[in-house]
Amino acid sequence: MKGKTVVVTGANSGIGKATATALAARGATIYMVCRNRRRGENARRDIITATKNTNIHLMLCDLSSMGSIQAFGTSMREQLESIDVLINNAGAVFGSRQLSLDGLELTFALNHVGYFLTAHYLLDLLRKGESKRIVNVASMGHKSVKKVDFENLQNERNYKQLKVYCESKLYNIYFTRILAEKLKKEKITVNCLHPGVVSTNFGSSASWYLSKIMMPLGRTFMITPEKGAETSIYLASSENVKNITGKYFDKQRETIPARLAMDDKNAKRIWDETIKITGIKEFGKVVEEFTFI
Ligand SMILES: NC(=O)c1ccc[n+]([C@@H]2O[C@H](COP(=O)([O-])OP(=O)(O)OC[C@H]3O[C@@H](n4cnc5c(N)ncnc54)[C@H](OP(=O)(O)O)[C@@H]3O)[C@@H](O)[C@H]2O)c1
Repeated sequence: MKGKTVVVTGANSGIGKATATALAARGATIYMVCRNRRRGENARRDIITATKNTNIHLMLCDLSSMGSIQAFGTSMREQLESIDVLINNAGAVFGSRQLSLDGLELTFALNHVGYFLTAHYLLDLLRKGESKRIVNVASMGHKSVKKVDFENLQNERNYKQLKVYCESKLYNIYFTRILAEKLKKEKITVNCLHPGVVSTNFGSSASWYLSKIMMPLGRTFMITPEKGAETSIYLASSENVKNITGKYFDKQRETIPARLAMDDKNAKRIWDETIKITGIKEFGKVVEEFTFI
């Protein structure tokens, strides 16, 4: 990965931090996208100490806010000519229904719209990169979703933390499949993955029962963040997947996701709804707004 530039969202903790560390150890320049300066700086220092790679940069962004992602995208385009790999990794589960700054249900905003908009604003930089890869961290949790209720995408009725989380991870697969198709001609690959059941900070914003009882109890059966990062690292760097796109991976193997995740009509409808919600005119085409005095 020497000479390659990789953007990792949620890189201050868990799978994202382990992914950034491993790619930094292989010589990549890393752009860590984090929401908290202190947590981001601490992780950046850890990565530099562990890898002796000093090309580790911190970008601040609240990935649940459309305005924050737009500002982050502008700042990246001002600083960089190109990027090689984008790893959409930041995600969470929330114990109660909360709204993002844009009025969206927070899981939907962070786990789905966050991936969608980050790719949108960075696509021009990826087009100019060598590797041209987008990696979306999804989850096998998508398999528990029985149907998509298009009348209740914001989960205004019947909020259940794990159900809402699993829906967002299903949308990661829909997004991967549609975007892969759209970017085939440009030879930009888009793949997604299940990282395993990993002992991280995941669940810390879930309900008291899940965060304080279930997650700590489950930790003994979980894999380490380093192990959980393996498929993200594989998709970001391996020559084996250079020409593979639109697929779902588990343990570094291409795997068939649940039948619902292969539903093209649903995938297209989620895409169209997200375009409407975000107000994008054309995905990947960023119109810079100038203020004239
Ligand atoms: N752990 C598992 O077993 C598992 C299984 C399947 C899929 N996944 C997926 O793996 C990904 C990484 O999760 P993890 O397990 O490594 O959990 P984690 O340790 O909690 O890491 C999540 C990362 O996302 C960041 N993040 C959360 N909200 C954000 C926001 N609004 N703006 C910017 N960054 C934000 C967190 O930052 P802060 O530190 O500031 O909160 C943290 O860096 C997620 O997409 C998750 O759905 C995890």
